[in-house]
Amino acid sequence: MGGTLPPVIAIDGPSASGKGTIAEAVAQRLSFHYLDSGALYRIVGLVGGERGVNLDNDLEISIISLNLKINFESGRVWVDGRDVSAQIRGEVAGAAASRVAALPGVRRALMALQRGFRQPPGLVADGRDMGSVVFPDASLKIYLTATPEERALRRHKQLMEKDSGASMAALLQDIRDRDLRDSTRAAAPLLKCADAIEIDTTGTSAKEVVEQVLHLYQKHQKTQ
Ligand code: CDP
Repeated sequence: MGGTLPPVIAIDGPSASGKGTIAEAVAQRLSFHYLDSGALYRIVGLVGGERGVNLDNDLEISIISLNLKINFESGRVWVDGRDVSAQIRGEVAGAAASRVAALPGVRRALMALQRGFRQPPGLVADGRDMGSVVFPDASLKIYLTATPEERALRRHKQLMEKDSGASMAALLQDIRDRDLRDSTRAAAPLLKCADAIEIDTTGTSAKEVVEQVLHLYQKHQKTQ
């Protein structure tokens, strides 16, 4: 189906399942390009908020999405010449992202930009509809899961490194709320594709998960 197009590995999973870490490491090991599609929604949410646009206005937010100049360079994210790497990771951008990601026009507007990342020798794409909508012909589709408790623990560890003291109970509740919101929304809900391979990462280190994904990819290549 993909013809001579470069291969794609699509990685999805619920919030805090570690998909970003795994996807980036797999891309590095294979010297593939890496697409953090969540960052695009975070950027659109951030800029929409800054410009005072109603974050539920599909048309206005879509127009913004089509006109942004986004660059990913050596681990940093630039929008219209401004480094927004730190800002898009904040809670405000995260909440705005989840609102604009529910708008079908915005999802369509970001399609061409995302497909443009498919360059030789290949791409690892992380995010919601990578395997189902954006790259349905991906060579390998992975769905990472972990129990809500494990994900809350991971997020807690991450936050502790930044010196932020969120309680485990609050983080667990937040993860449960997001799971519910993400899986019940109409546009691109959190859903495992029928042809995705599920990896439960509870109790498994990131390094081990990376090896599992690489092994699955090698296996896939041998069958081609
Ligand atoms: O991992 P988490 O969902 O917390 O964050 P993210 O991957 O940075 O995504 C930010 C927001 O964009 C979330 O609400 C995702 O559901 C949404 N998103 C999406 O709808 N489609 C994508 N391809 C990627 C992210």
